[in-house]
Amino acid sequence: MNLTFKFDDDFTVNRLGFGTMQLPGTGVWGPADDEKNAVDVITTAVDHGVNFIDTADSYGPLYANLYLRKALEQRPDNHVLVATKVGFTRQGPSEWTELGNPAYLRQQVEENLFSLGLDHIDLLQLHRIDANFSLEDQIGELAKMQQEGKIKHIGLSQVSIYQLKSAQKIAPIVSVQNRYNLVDRADEDVLNYAEENNIAFIPWFPLATGKLTSGSKMTQIAKKYNATPAQIALAWLLKRAEVILPIPGTSSVDHVISNIAAQNITLSDADFETLSKMSTK
Ligand SMILES: NC(=O)c1ccc[n+]([C@@H]2O[C@H](COP(=O)([O-])OP(=O)(O)OC[C@H]3O[C@@H](n4cnc5c(N)ncnc54)[C@H](OP(=O)(O)O)[C@@H]3O)[C@@H](O)[C@H]2O)c1
Repeated sequence: MNLTFKFDDDFTVNRLGFGTMQLPGTGVWGPADDEKNAVDVITTAVDHGVNFIDTADSYGPLYANLYLRKALEQRPDNHVLVATKVGFTRQGPSEWTELGNPAYLRQQVEENLFSLGLDHIDLLQLHRIDANFSLEDQIGELAKMQQEGKIKHIGLSQVSIYQLKSAQKIAPIVSVQNRYNLVDRADEDVLNYAEENNIAFIPWFPLATGKLTSGSKMTQIAKKYNATPAQIALAWLLKRAEVILPIPGTSSVDHVISNIAAQNITLSDADFETLSKMSTK
């Protein structure tokens, strides 16, 4: 099994990455209760080989980007691909609104550059497509910023195959970030399309927001591998397709170390099949 994915000649990343959404405070909103811990979680991930980190200006908002910037400043020699997002605004812990006005997407790219302390974004993902604006206008604005050198690659999030194919007619799309995990495989068709076209598939909620960290069947299989259920859920994703780049989120240094160690587990075909039958969608 190949545990790396090549984005371009500069970036071949380790497939097991990290997502920053859990780092802000209670209800993943506002500043972290312990900022040092938030930064430590990221430096620990990097120290254990993570070089693919997913974030968004809406995480916090902005706090997650600031912790990521601080952490990467502490690891100046590590080459980390930062994937961020625009097009989804946030008004509270669970209140999200799509906003694909091209003028605002441009401002959000600038805000991501500023908060992350970068001169370009390696992977800029459109967090959601906004039905109030044409896809040509939304992807078109990002493509303009790509030509200006502010964005290296463009990705999408939570899209259908139809939307993905439509976007591909406007600009090259290197990644898709959809909700997907062992028990929630509604977007199997999008994953299959990504696999056929060598597009990175970045499953969000890889641990089903923590639900896959327990459970009797998971625990039973995990025991065989001297592993935790969370590690088994991640090992399943890694085996499912070589274009999958899981980005488990955690605010715990112990959990980040344990999650990264999941890449050392090779599930048998029989256990993979047993786990595959656990899907509820
Ligand atoms: N594109 C999108 O629309 C979208 C939407 C949601 C998320 N995302 C991205 O996807 C990433 C992953 O999603 P997520 O963080 O929401 O969900 P997740 O990775 O499925 O699960 C995170 C939850 O699992 C717990 N957890 C993590 N590792 C654990 C372990 N080893 N043992 C026990 N519990 C563990 C965390 O709690 P602790 O903090 O206690 O470890 C947290 O409650 C996000 O960070 C974000 O970058 C994208």
